[in-house]
Amino acid sequence: MAHHIIMDVDTGIDDAMSIMFAVRHPDVEIHAISCVAGNGPVHQVADNTLKVLDLVNAPEIPVAAGARQPLIEPARPPGAVHGASGLGRLRLPHTSRTMESVHAVELIRRTLLTAEEPLTIVASAPLTNLALLLRTYPELSERIERILFMGGSASVGNATAVAEFNIWHDPEAAFIVFSSGVPLVMYGLDVFNRIRVDAARIAELTACADPVATAVGSLLGNEIVDQATGRALPYSMIGDAGTICALVAPELYSFETWPLQVDLAPGLGRGQTQVDRRRTVYRRDDTPWASASIALDADTDSVLELFFSTVLPQ
Ligand code: RIB
Ligand code: CA
Repeated sequence: MAHHIIMDVDTGIDDAMSIMFAVRHPDVEIHAISCVAGNGPVHQVADNTLKVLDLVNAPEIPVAAGARQPLIEPARPPGAVHGASGLGRLRLPHTSRTMESVHAVELIRRTLLTAEEPLTIVASAPLTNLALLLRTYPELSERIERILFMGGSASVGNATAVAEFNIWHDPEAAFIVFSSGVPLVMYGLDVFNRIRVDAARIAELTACADPVATAVGSLLGNEIVDQATGRALPYSMIGDAGTICALVAPELYSFETWPLQVDLAPGLGRGQTQVDRRRTVYRRDDTPWASASIALDADTDSVLELFFSTVLPQ
């Protein structure tokens, strides 16, 4: 079955692996890639995206830069996770590819209007572009089959104790997307944190002769530091790439549909996605809750096998 998609990214280490997977999977056709500030400034995100497309010899895919900052939150300096380049230690050659001259919202609009069928939007970044699109052109929601987004959590956070980075970075954007009526599939930290690659596999990749394999080894080789001990964790994660794996192989995950909302209140809970898993709900608030299909478990070994067998030469 062909999956016709638009990707919204903040390339980034794991967005890069997600793009590589999507380009190389035979059942995925990327119609456009929209870039947004998140892991780094939006033009660095776009430049990294173009370079990654070169790395995997992708066909010409329209890429455009979008929102430079969140809707309400102040622009934040990039965190340390993805490094100054946004791709950790990976250095990629300059690219001859060029971005579209339009804003990412206009690229998404143009792509949705010219597609034969409604498209799936796979988002692995703050939802600012998608919020701007849905507020500016609400009629386009009919042209979006669903939004499969890496974001949120029904359990722990990462940017804060309770909030996941993409949602925390722009909670108002998440609220707009969640309340848009577009079908939602949430790929949150509940599964994101479980798709792990051990140090031995990373070392194997890094030692490969193939440039894509060594690039994946370099991306995975960027250490994740345990804040409690200050030491690097003995594994890395494919991160956003698991979202595209869930697109092509949903049977490797278990999804449950639950009410979903995002906390906008200032304070410790801001940006937390709230998943109401109470069987008997006595709703005491008038908050408009969305309904989302949420990935809560995964066959982690099979997901890793899918990722590596798709991205690496066989
Ligand atoms: O919380 C994980 C998300 O934040 C991923 O999309 C990663 O790329 C960062 O953007
Ligand atoms: Ca990302």
